[in-house]
Amino acid sequence: MELAGKRILLGITGGIAAYKGAELLRLLTREGASVQVVMSAAATRFVTPVTFQALSGQPVFSDQWDPRVANNMAHIDLSRAADVVLVAPASADFIAKVANGLADDLLTTLVLARDCPLLLAPAMNRQMWENPATMRNVATLRADGVAILGPGCGDQACGESGLGRMLEAEEILDELVAHFQPRLLPDVGVLLTAGPTFEAIDPVRGITNLSSGRMGYALARAAREAGARVTLVSGPVSLPCPTGVSRIDVTSARDMHAEVMARVAAHAVFIAVAAVADYRPARTIAQKIKKGAQAAPPAIELVLNPDILAEVAALPKPPLCVGFAAESENLAAYAEHKRRSKGIPLIVGNLIQDGFGGDDNRLILFDDTGEHPLAPAAKIVLARQLVAHIAGLLEKRR
Ligand code: PMT
Repeated sequence: MELAGKRILLGITGGIAAYKGAELLRLLTREGASVQVVMSAAATRFVTPVTFQALSGQPVFSDQWDPRVANNMAHIDLSRAADVVLVAPASADFIAKVANGLADDLLTTLVLARDCPLLLAPAMNRQMWENPATMRNVATLRADGVAILGPGCGDQACGESGLGRMLEAEEILDELVAHFQPRLLPDVGVLLTAGPTFEAIDPVRGITNLSSGRMGYALARAAREAGARVTLVSGPVSLPCPTGVSRIDVTSARDMHAEVMARVAAHAVFIAVAAVADYRPARTIAQKIKKGAQAAPPAIELVLNPDILAEVAALPKPPLCVGFAAESENLAAYAEHKRRSKGIPLIVGNLIQDGFGGDDNRLILFDDTGEHPLAPAAKIVLARQLVAHIAGLLEKRR
C-alpha cells in the first residue's frame, strides 16, 4: 500500500469533475490513506456529501460554522490533522481565491491556515484555463510552492476539446505517491530502455522474448518520482506509460538503438533494462513463408544486433550507464563479466526465474565497491532503492 499511514485532506470544489473525486477517494483509501473530505458549497450541487462519507468512512465537512465542531475552528483542526491537502477538482474560482489569499468558506480558509503542502488538480473549460487571469493565478500559486497537477488535454463536458480536463484519478494518485518520495534526482535527465525487442522473420513471425517491461517501467516511474525528466524507449509491451514519463515506442533492436543514440546526449543517466535481441534474421522475408514451399524446413540466418549499452558507454562523454543482466545460473560471475566487458559502473543482476514477467523481483547490484543484494520485493520498491543507489553514484561522479 503506497499511502499507508498518510492523512490526506481531499478538497472537492464545484465542477462536473467532482464525480471523479469519488473514484479518487476510493483509490486513496485502497492505498491505505486516511482521507478527510471537505467540499465547497458548489461541489455539493454536483455530488452529495453522503457519497464521500460512505467512501471515506468519515463525516464530510463543508460549512465553516458546522455545529459539530465544538470550538468552531474546523479550518484549524482539519488542516492540522493533514499531511497534505489535495484539491481535486480545483475550479477556476477556487484557484483564483487561493492565489489571492481569500478565505470565504471552509475549504479556502483551511487552505490559508494550513502548514502542510497543497496539491491542486485543476478542472475547467479550456477557455477558462487559457484565460490570462487563470494563467496569472496558476503562476502565482506555482511561485508560492503549490503543486499543480495537470490539467489534462482532451474532450470536455461542455463539448469542447483542449487543455483543462482534470487528470484521471489514477494519474492524481501517482502524483500524490510521488509527492511523498525523496527528490533524489531533481531535474536529472534519465533515459531508459525497457521490454523485449521483436525481430521480424516475415510479416507475421519474429524472434522475441518474455520480458513484460515491468522492471523498466517501474524504474521509469521511480526516477520520475525522484524528480528526474524521464524518457523511456520501450519495446512492444502492454503496459500504460507511467505518469509524467515521455515514452517512445520501438519494435526492433535497431529501432531501439536509433532512438537511444538520437537522445542520449541530453541525459545524465542511461539505464538499459530492455531484453534486447542479440541477433536478428539477416533478411526479413516480404511475404508470409508458406509451409512446404521448400523441400526442407527453411533455415534462418542470424546477424548480430548493435549493443546499445556498450555503444553508449563508449561515447566520449558517456552518461552514467547502468546495465541489467538476467541469468539462469552463475549470476555474480556473469553479471560482473558483463559489467567489465561493457565498461559500465553498475550492473543489476537478476535470475531469469525471478525477473521475467511478474510484479516482484530479487536484485543484486554490482559496482566498483562490490555486491549489494536487495531483499526480494515488488519491482517498484526495488526500483526506488536502485534509484537511490544511482543517485549516490551520480553524486560521487560530480
Ligand atoms: O521486463 P520484465 O518482465 O520486468 O523483466 C525484467 C528483465 C528480467 C528483462 C530485466 O530485469 C533484465 O534483466 N534485463 C536485461 C536482460 C539481459 O540479460 O540482457 P543481456 O544480458 O542481453 O544484456 C546485458 C545488458 O546490455 C542489458 O542492460 C541490456 O539492456 C543491454 N543490451 C544488450 C544487448 C544489446 N544488443 N543492447 C543492449 O543494450
